[in-house]
Parts: sequence; structure tokens; C-alpha cells
Amino acid sequence: MPSLQPGTILFAPMEGITNSVYRQVILKYYPQWDFVCCSFLRVPSQGTLSTKKIIEHIGAWTMADEAYRKKTILQILASSNSNLLDTCKKISDLKIQWTDLNLGCPSKKVVSHRGGSYLLSDMQALSKIIKTARSGLSGFFSVKMRVGLHDDKNFLKILKLLESEGVDAITVHGRTKDQMYTGAANWDYIKQAQETVNIPIIGNGDVCSKAQVQQMLNSTKCQGVMIGRCGVAAPWLAKSIKDNVESLSEDTIKQNILEYCNTLTQSFELASKGPIVTLNKLKGVCHHLFDNLDGGQQMKHLVLRSKTLQEFQQRILALLR
Ligand SMILES: Cc1cc2nc3c(=O)[nH]c(=O)nc-3n(C[C@H](O)[C@H](O)[C@H](O)COP(=O)(O)O)c2cc1C
Repeated sequence: MPSLQPGTILFAPMEGITNSVYRQVILKYYPQWDFVCCSFLRVPSQGTLSTKKIIEHIGAWTMADEAYRKKTILQILASSNSNLLDTCKKISDLKIQWTDLNLGCPSKKVVSHRGGSYLLSDMQALSKIIKTARSGLSGFFSVKMRVGLHDDKNFLKILKLLESEGVDAITVHGRTKDQMYTGAANWDYIKQAQETVNIPIIGNGDVCSKAQVQQMLNSTKCQGVMIGRCGVAAPWLAKSIKDNVESLSEDTIKQNILEYCNTLTQSFELASKGPIVTLNKLKGVCHHLFDNLDGGQQMKHLVLRSKTLQEFQQRILALLR
């Protein structure tokens, strides 16, 4: 069973980003992250999800390496029509140690299929899904939730339901679905969750520095902190946090970006179907890399306008060396 020590630092699930190749880079080169979460695996409403699909999603390399397995969280997305029990049993047979259920996805398509954040508005459907998942999963089972669909009226009820149905931990992202990613995440909800249930709470939302990690831990008393967008912008953040480093020099950031881009390029190239696919994948994760550099916005625009992989690499080198 995973151990959620006080101050655990987790890399958040992000669709289109935390795929198998990306997670491999993070786990290999930035081992200071305690856990890294897969983007969601949709459990279909018709038919079943094969064991092969589950392995593909989590990555055969993860399954083959005990150390990586221990740090990986598989996230599933289900609705009340999903064949969830079958999937959960397959996950248990694979001995995947930590499975998380997505209760936060704001996408119109997901909500219209009554999954993700929709479930925060339907206590009956939610209760059924949680019971099913819990009965099928033999490993650690957590839930990652927003505070509601349109408002927070079910928030406390949901927390109590999750606790009473045997959920092992809850990640709270302090926004409703309607808020998408606007405004500031409200950490008071994390504190409220911590005070309401006796299972570990992981705080999430707008954490970008060591100081903010400390602030979230101190002000909410949550057990762990999950970082999303700022982890993509600076995957070395967990190292800075653990090494007690508040801010890095421009030169160190430049060196970090260079190394990161090289590693990512090699990994995407090995796994992808050619340089254009690699280029697009790199562009997908490079948006915020330059945010903390003087002239970073111009650098970003120049790099993102690269038409070939070679141009991308040349521009990165010219800008950062
Ligand atoms: C591009 C993108 C994709 C995301 N995909 C997922 C996902 O697959 N599952 C999930 O639970 N949350 C997903 N999220 C939400 C993040 O995990 C996180 O809760 C949110 O970004 C707030 O944390 P942050 O301020 O540290 O980024 C996604 C967010 C972004 C920006």
C-alpha cells in the first residue's frame, strides 16, 4: 500500500500531458516527485476495457519496474453506465497499487455522459460508482474532486459519503466545474475537507513554489500537495521543494530547460511516429517553460513558432546557451 507521508508531493493527472512517455521522463529524471498520476483512462459505457488497454495506458515499462509501479497512480473516469466492476477487477488482478477516480473533469462531453464533475451533482449515481469501485479494487483507492458542479452545496455530503464507503484518500481542487480554471483555487475547501473526514486529504490548485507548498500544508493541514500546471512548467520543482530551495537563478533555469527539452525530445522520438509528431508533443508541454525568465514570453513565441523539430532544437539552443 502506498504511504502518504506528511508533505507528500504529487504530480497531477493532465490529459494530453501525463501520458506514458511523459511520465517516464518525470519518474526517471525528476525522482523527487513522490507520486505521478496518469491522465484519465475512460471506462466505456458499452463493452469492457481490456487488460491490454489498461497496461498500454499505464505503460508496460511501469508494470515491469517495481519502483515505477510504486510511484504511479492510475486514474479512471467512469459514469453510472460504465462497466466499472469488470475494469476494477482487472486493475486489481494487475496489482496496480493506487487507483484514483476522476470527479473533476469539466469537459462538456464528459459531463454530458454523466462522468467526471457531473457526479458531484448526483449523489445517487456517485454512491453507486464509489461502492462498485471500492468493491472491485483491492489496492489504494482515492478520489480527485472539485468542490461541486455549479456550486458547493454537496461538498460536505460527498466527503462523508467517500469516507463511509472506504475511499482511502481525497484530493480536493478548490474550484467548481463552472469555474474551470478561472480565479484562484479556494484552499479553504481543502481545510474544510481536512476537518470533516479522517482520511488523508491532498490539496490541489495554484501551487507553484516551495513557499506555496508550505503555505498550503500549514494553512489547511492537508497531508500532501498535488501540483499540475506548474509541474509541467518546471518539472524540477519537486527537487527544489525537497532541497529547500526557494528560487533558482536564471542560469540554472536555462540549464534545466535545456536538459529537459533534450530528454523529452529523445523520449518522444523513441516513442513517436516521426519528427512532426515529436515537435507537436514538445510544443504541447513547453508553453510555460519560459515563464520565469527575463524575456520569457518572446522566447516562448519564437520556440512555439518552430516549423520543424530541427528548428525547435536550434532555437532552444540559441536562446538558452
Ligand atoms: C491540460 C490539463 C489536463 C488535465 N487533465 C486532468 C485529468 O486527466 N484528470 C484530472 O483529474 N485532472 C486533470 N486536470 C486538472 C489538474 O489535475 C489539476 O487539478 C488542475 O490543473 C489544478 O491544479 P494546478 O493549479 O496545480 O494546475 C487537467 C488540467 C489541465 C490544465
